[in-house]
Amino acid sequence: MGQVILVEEDHGMTELLAGQLKKLAGVESIPRKNAIDTIELLKLLPKVNLIVTRAKIGDENTAQELLDFINENGLPTNLIVTGDGFENRDITTVTDERDWEDILFYSLQVLNVPLEGINKATRDYTSFPIEYFLPLRNLPCSVFLKLKKSETDFYFLKRYHSGRPISSDSIGSYIKEGVSELFVLEEDERSFSNFLSDSYISELAKEGKTFSATMDLLHIADTFLKRQILSFGLVKNAIQLGYRIQQKILKVVGEHPLFPDTWNYLEKSNLPYTFQSQIMLAGIISELTQENFLEMGKHQNPLIEACFLHNVALGTRDDMALISSMDELENSGLSFDEQLKVMNHAADGAEMSLMRQDLLFGADQIIREHHGAVNGMGFPVPPSPGIKKASHFFLICDEFVRELFLGKGEDLDKKVTDEFSKKIIKKLIDMWRNK
Ligand SMILES: [Fe+2]
Repeated sequence: MGQVILVEEDHGMTELLAGQLKKLAGVESIPRKNAIDTIELLKLLPKVNLIVTRAKIGDENTAQELLDFINENGLPTNLIVTGDGFENRDITTVTDERDWEDILFYSLQVLNVPLEGINKATRDYTSFPIEYFLPLRNLPCSVFLKLKKSETDFYFLKRYHSGRPISSDSIGSYIKEGVSELFVLEEDERSFSNFLSDSYISELAKEGKTFSATMDLLHIADTFLKRQILSFGLVKNAIQLGYRIQQKILKVVGEHPLFPDTWNYLEKSNLPYTFQSQIMLAGIISELTQENFLEMGKHQNPLIEACFLHNVALGTRDDMALISSMDELENSGLSFDEQLKVMNHAADGAEMSLMRQDLLFGADQIIREHHGAVNGMGFPVPPSPGIKKASHFFLICDEFVRELFLGKGEDLDKKVTDEFSKKIIKKLIDMWRNK
């Protein structure tokens, strides 16, 4: 059984902490008013596990005096300090002395008590995939872990906050334990999202990461970006992050051979199609417009821009983005609303892209026509003769990337009849086979 001394001048806080420690850890807390009284008690009880103390009480440097006594006498007592006026990197300090959740959290940790007991159940929380936290080193707000109390009841445990730095190791161990989401208070969602955008932008600007670390970072940033766009539209932060992701992908495909290096890497990875297809498409289109399809050269920039936006209306839904015919759509098992979304995603994507004032001229048309329909609805076969040639070119490259992803790269040739498509496919298969 643990022994705890609470050195606190606020009677209400003493009662609250003592009550929670009794309830959650089964320990009786002994209240004391200052360092002198506490030291007298420590002389009688030298095996106290924990003292939670205010940094200062009146003129007394309470925490420092207690720490000195503990060190001089070699006591096994842990110290948690609350409030301002004490600095020691080795001692847990909660600078807001009213933050009882944090004080309790650290106390339970010292007492080796499972931590699912703390919550503010009345608040609303928003979930974020846990991977989003991997590139972060600090936080602008509190982050919570959701713990199951019963089949229908949950606790939210504050796990990180601005004074308690995040580490990729601790996130990594949560991932290993099967945790898939962390939570922030709903009122913090917007500012936390802006913080994520800024953090990813500065991480992406750093040089010297390995190829796979760059891919992982790009994937996290891209997944977050798509969620942002679906929640808030193409707002300023999303545009900036999108631009940075685009630049980084173009840099990566410029520095690494697409076939076999990049493709082999992606093929073995578990990265989603919505992410992979942007890289492969950008790589393929950069190469073909520079070397083999020079008449497409003048459309190169809008074509490349379309690689990053053509499926934007589908977010990260691979199952939707992989559909490329009416048959597949009808047999997909998607709900009516989802089917409608797939039907219209090219038109919707073009519409959304136009929110970007800097969108390159012609990119929206390619996005709208990327499944062959002038109005961006459905999957006409053959593609409508009304679509522009650059859109037709994009459509074939997009189809090829899809077939590659599905492991059927060679099959595409059988699906097309016109000469232009056949010529593109032949070149793509040659590229893929490194001929
Ligand atoms: Fe699409």
